[in-house]
Amino acid sequence: MSRKKVRIHHFKEMKQRGEKIAMLTAYDFPTARAFDAGGADILLVGDSLGDNMLGMESTVPLTLDEMVPFARAVVRGAEHAFVIADLPFGSYEVSPEQAVESAIRMVKLSGAHAIKFEGGRRVARQVKAVTDAGIPFCGHLGFTPQSETALGGRRIQGRGEHGIEDLVADALALQEAGAFAVVLEMVIAPAAKAVTEALDIPTIGIGAGPDTDGQVLVWLDMAGVGEWHPRFSKQFGAVGQAMVDASAAYVDEVKAVSFPAAEHTFES
Ligand code: KIV
Repeated sequence: MSRKKVRIHHFKEMKQRGEKIAMLTAYDFPTARAFDAGGADILLVGDSLGDNMLGMESTVPLTLDEMVPFARAVVRGAEHAFVIADLPFGSYEVSPEQAVESAIRMVKLSGAHAIKFEGGRRVARQVKAVTDAGIPFCGHLGFTPQSETALGGRRIQGRGEHGIEDLVADALALQEAGAFAVVLEMVIAPAAKAVTEALDIPTIGIGAGPDTDGQVLVWLDMAGVGEWHPRFSKQFGAVGQAMVDASAAYVDEVKAVSFPAAEHTFES
């Protein structure tokens, strides 16, 4: 059966019929092609590009202009999946006007179908302005890496006397401002459940337990690339080791002059 292109109205329908949404980060053409073929509903060009792919210390130094070519490559590789691109730190906080300008720039130059940025009630005016401009918006609550310093480190969110209440209020503000989905990162499972039940739009969890409407992982954590993976992630492959093994086999054959062989050689 041929697979249909994933479109924005499908996400609410999936929530209503209880079908989980599968989202993965992707940062380039070959990973977008692979995860699209694997059936991912959404590819997220996250600002985790900065620390995961470009070797930055965090997501904070990444700029909009640095993100655009990666987002464009993912869009080129996504035949069926819906593509969301992050707006990086510093490109939306100042005003609704700044957020709309950045969102338009990202969508126009990359072809991404939607944008995401971090925050709840504090960015509701920006979200409203972006959705009023006709750009689909996905929220991001809980642990928000762009505010890691202000949050006192990589801390699990939703704890404390008003933890759940605050998250629900932020999520409702995003829904009210026109968001079509909300990512919940590193929040306690009861908080994720409460937010999911309070919203008509889907929640997509990362380290938020099983009761969200979908899940997202950074692809390197999902595929087993790199030395460290967060406890909430699961490695569904050993791609990092496979790359070490393949490159070691290549080096051995080059040194032993067994590659290239006759079948790799043009004699005339
Ligand atoms: O940038 C990113 O990869 C993200 C996910 C962690 C949701 O925002």
